[in-house]
Amino acid sequence: MPGNMAVNWVVYCVFLLPLFAVGTAFSGVFNSTDRDIFTDDLLQVKLAQGRAGEQWKLPPADSHPNLYFNQVDVLHLRQRSSTTHSHIFKVIRAAVLTMLSNVPFYIPPVKHQEFTSKWNEIYGNNLPPLALYCLLCPEDSAALQFLIKFMDRMAEYPDWKVTSAPNDEVPTAHSLTGFATAYDFIYSQLDERRRDFYLKKIRSETEELYELSKYRGWGKQYLQNHQTTNILAIMTGAIVVGSHDDPESMIWKQVAVNYMEKTMFLLNHVVDGSLDEGVAYGSYTAKSITQYVFLAQRHFHIDNTQNNWLLGHFWFYYATLLPGFQRTVGIADSNYNWFYGPESQLVFLDTFVMRNGTGNWLAQQIRKHRPKDGPMGQSSAQRWATLHTEYIWFNSHLTLQPPQDYGKARMHIFSNWGVVTYGAGLPIGQGNTFVSFKSSRLGGRAVYDIVHDKPYSWVDGWNSFNPGHEHPDQNSFTFAPNGQVFVSEALYGPKYSYLNNVLVFSPSPTSQCNSPWEGQLGECAKWLRWTDEGVGDARGEVIVASSHGDTLFVSGEAVSAYSSAMRLKSVFRALVLLDSQTLLVLDHVEKWSDSPVTTFSAFFHNLDIDFKYVPFRFMDKYNGAMMDVWDAHYKMFWFDAQGHSPDTRIQEAEQAAEFKKRWTQYVNVTFSMSGTVSRVAYVLHGPYVKVSNCKFVDNGKNGVRVSLTINNTEKVVSIATNYKDIGARLSYLGFGGHGKIEDGDQITRFGLGTQLVPKLISSDNQLFDFGFAVNVVAGVVICVAIGFLTMQRRFYVCFSRLMRYALLTVLILWIAELVFVSSSCDQLLCGVKWKSAGAKSEVNKQIRLSEQQRFPLPTVVITTLPGSGSEILKHLFYNNSDFVYIRVPTEHVDIPETEFEFDSLVDACEWSRSDAAHGRFKIIQGWLHSLVHNTKLHLQNIQLVEGGRVKQPQRAAPPGTERRGPGGGSRRPS
Ligand SMILES: *[C@@H]1O[C@H](CO)[C@@H](O)[C@H](O)[C@H]1NC(C)=O
Ligand SMILES: *[C@@H]1O[C@H](CO)[C@@H](O)[C@H](O)[C@H]1NC(C)=O
Ligand SMILES: *[C@@H]1O[C@H](CO)[C@@H](O)[C@H](O)[C@H]1NC(C)=O
Repeated sequence: MPGNMAVNWVVYCVFLLPLFAVGTAFSGVFNSTDRDIFTDDLLQVKLAQGRAGEQWKLPPADSHPNLYFNQVDVLHLRQRSSTTHSHIFKVIRAAVLTMLSNVPFYIPPVKHQEFTSKWNEIYGNNLPPLALYCLLCPEDSAALQFLIKFMDRMAEYPDWKVTSAPNDEVPTAHSLTGFATAYDFIYSQLDERRRDFYLKKIRSETEELYELSKYRGWGKQYLQNHQTTNILAIMTGAIVVGSHDDPESMIWKQVAVNYMEKTMFLLNHVVDGSLDEGVAYGSYTAKSITQYVFLAQRHFHIDNTQNNWLLGHFWFYYATLLPGFQRTVGIADSNYNWFYGPESQLVFLDTFVMRNGTGNWLAQQIRKHRPKDGPMGQSSAQRWATLHTEYIWFNSHLTLQPPQDYGKARMHIFSNWGVVTYGAGLPIGQGNTFVSFKSSRLGGRAVYDIVHDKPYSWVDGWNSFNPGHEHPDQNSFTFAPNGQVFVSEALYGPKYSYLNNVLVFSPSPTSQCNSPWEGQLGECAKWLRWTDEGVGDARGEVIVASSHGDTLFVSGEAVSAYSSAMRLKSVFRALVLLDSQTLLVLDHVEKWSDSPVTTFSAFFHNLDIDFKYVPFRFMDKYNGAMMDVWDAHYKMFWFDAQGHSPDTRIQEAEQAAEFKKRWTQYVNVTFSMSGTVSRVAYVLHGPYVKVSNCKFVDNGKNGVRVSLTINNTEKVVSIATNYKDIGARLSYLGFGGHGKIEDGDQITRFGLGTQLVPKLISSDNQLFDFGFAVNVVAGVVICVAIGFLTMQRRFYVCFSRLMRYALLTVLILWIAELVFVSSSCDQLLCGVKWKSAGAKSEVNKQIRLSEQQRFPLPTVVITTLPGSGSEILKHLFYNNSDFVYIRVPTEHVDIPETEFEFDSLVDACEWSRSDAAHGRFKIIQGWLHSLVHNTKLHLQNIQLVEGGRVKQPQRAAPPGTERRGPGGGSRRPS
């Protein structure tokens, strides 16, 4: 729907590229069965290593540093500490000074038991920045002594585990990554004995982690923070050990690269740059991914810098930031902002992916605004973990610059994540308002579709993923008018629907907890129960997201996130931001007539303990809640289509989160459902606006109209709730969209734009007044004339003929006037009551006319978001004898590498007749030709009968059905 994604479509020559592309760099995946994939990949890495050996002189066997840079680079790194990199160096130095000023806290304990008695990632996390400091400042012997003592203790421990989490290798991975990185950095300053001793430790830990990768969940669950963390540890250990002529390290490297390349391959589908685990865990996974991409480039010559996910990843940080750069939207198991970085990830993106200074700029903003303490401060275990990579990657030649259009509130759509944000990445200020909405498929769109459509044999359904950090939060939203968080996520916590801003129903036959209540699928436990029956099919969907000026319209459907036993037909929610202060939330719940459900509760959270929700009554009519922020009042109230406004209980909850407790307060308002359709409006507004007189003005079958008076102007919001039926939308709204806002001055039709209402009412008024005056005058004249006539009859009979003529003239005049006036009215007798109706219809006519001129034909929109482009267009081409429909990728047909690098995940592409005429794309043309005429040749590798799972030859139309050869250039397979 968003207009900026519209592409005018030239129908005659399109190469339609469906859901999943062949990653040319990784095409080996498609030619492998589940059984041989492993060896297949090993082969690939070996190749890459071989090449690296030829092109680069591999450093001498025991050369360190080598992991991120070599000895020659050390000089440059030292110079930069006082010049271009001084701002990062200062942070590193401050970190080291802090460590040295409180050695007992920062040094690993002597006793191993003490080390394993608590979560101990802090030690591994602090090692690399400390070691980098020692490398940059070799003269600081106190720091070096501290580092050596630190590493001695780590090396002496028999293992790096945490007793309370015996099956969790993440702490070991932090220790290993940190220890191996530090070893590489300060190798030259270690004595022979330590070099040997430490290396043995790195070797044994790497080997153990590698062995465990074969059995643990993280060995097979992609796009999850545990996997990237642990695999990167194996890889780091393997590279360091590999510098010492250790043949076994080759296998570890190969396996690690294999895992990570599959990760990158899957991420290539996640075109919006997001991660379903939310911003905080996303920053965790991204820390390891950026390290992997760098190490793979440096050590194996694998270039992932143009990965779609990396290309979009900047927005995962920018478009999730609340005004003021301190806090993020959260989502899933998040804290207030990030676990690791994100400065390091941002400078990485700028140096290797974006290269325009915008990543550096955002890193600077985040560092500048970072709270030193309080709930938004960094955790002491994680705050320094990415300083070394930030220092190494920072490119000072990229001049800081904000993104284009910085400073204006914009909408951003995370198409994969199912999250829409508005007003992100702004400084704090009045009117800088943030809104978010989420309605997504479990795991995000790409993962969900890969699990359900099974295009890759090496992906084992949901067993290959772990969305346990996700929440039951489809159709949830947050609202921060003027940057003040009024409704927020409840962040990291147990997975209960009522801890998210969504609807919960009662009574439900399938209630798992809080009986008789039931929320969304997968709730009731510490982690989302994604492996439970039916939960893997849970999904919400953003239906529409559109923004004009300071208004936003976004809507979503979440019915598929609820148990089908509740017999719900639609759980639709629309958000309409009317101006920077006012948000209207509309819930439309529709159930089947046999649904057992009779009530639903809506929840609104805020975890700011300083600002409590208190009950509030709006104009003595509706119930609500209010938050007093230093005398500025943020208010919300609600009412259903019948005008009922139930009272609320403002509740609190304290939940276990990360390593602490987290508190949240919430509004719980329960509505009873009378018929099969229930509609509830919630109005939330900030202090700089006066809201009065809100009500439903229409509660029809296809939609609703809500009227709100804001600053004494009445605004009517119309929302089509029968959103699937374009005819219903058209008739309800007057255009094919989903919602509009009207007031006396303008109409905003979401998706089309804002239009001023033509001011025709005044001239109409004049016309009417003139008619009315003539009417009155004529009436008076007649009365006078009749009076005269009666009087005159008595006295002067001779004048009678003259008077009769006069009377007749007046009558004719009057009738003529009546006809004239009524032709400009809708009714025969133009009266006061019809005045406005007449005027309105005139305005409508004008609008309709001008619309017809402005939108002569419907525009066909082609989006290339994964899962939308081909789904929509498939039906035009599939099973049509004019086209050959090939699904890409397939396990059976290999698309040749050509000069035309199509990427079905992101680019709409189009080949025109002139391309063919200019002889472009000859290779693919020849390939298509041969595919159509020698189909068997292409399909000969397929085992057509294979234990139960017979693969169709990818629905290619039978040979010879294409009417023209590729030479004509006007027909392309799609
Ligand atoms: C597919 O795999 C087979 C056996 O592993 C190999 O012989 C063949 O060349 C491969 N085909 C392609 C296109 O890579
Ligand atoms: C830098 O690149 C990003 C991503 O391509 C883009 O969004 C941003 O606007 C660019 N910055 C400037 C200043 O052009
Ligand atoms: C919400 O309120 C309803 C009605 O008062 C109550 O039955 C329900 O337990 C509450 N839910 C939660 C999660 O507190």
